[in-house]
Amino acid sequence: MATNHAGYTGTGFVDFVNTAGGHIEWSVNVAEAGTHTLTFRYANGTASTRPMDIAVNGVTVAAEVAFPGTGAWSTCVDGRVTTTLAAGVNTVRATGTRASGGPNLDRLSV
Ligand code: GCU
Repeated sequence: MATNHAGYTGTGFVDFVNTAGGHIEWSVNVAEAGTHTLTFRYANGTASTRPMDIAVNGVTVAAEVAFPGTGAWSTCVDGRVTTTLAAGVNTVRATGTRASGGPNLDRLSV
């Protein structure tokens, strides 16, 4: 957990490794099966997008999702992916796809 930039909620944020393939995985529990929006609160202090593949229960549901620059590492914005979730616990994984890795990730809301 990193805390070296302001703007995060909770106790810190995740700083992806600067290499392709680094990932974060969450267990997400929803009451109802169906369409849900995954909201990734992130910061990207560079001018380049930090794309991530988003997988649910081991299947990529959104490839190379753009997480564009936010102007500063201390400026978080929301990136959204709409997908289908099963009732109960689902695994959501975000994987950085470029050599620069993913953005700094503050939280996932469903
Ligand atoms: C800087 C910044 C980190 C960020 C990193 C990156 O080092 O302080 O928070 O993760 O750049 O390029 O990913």
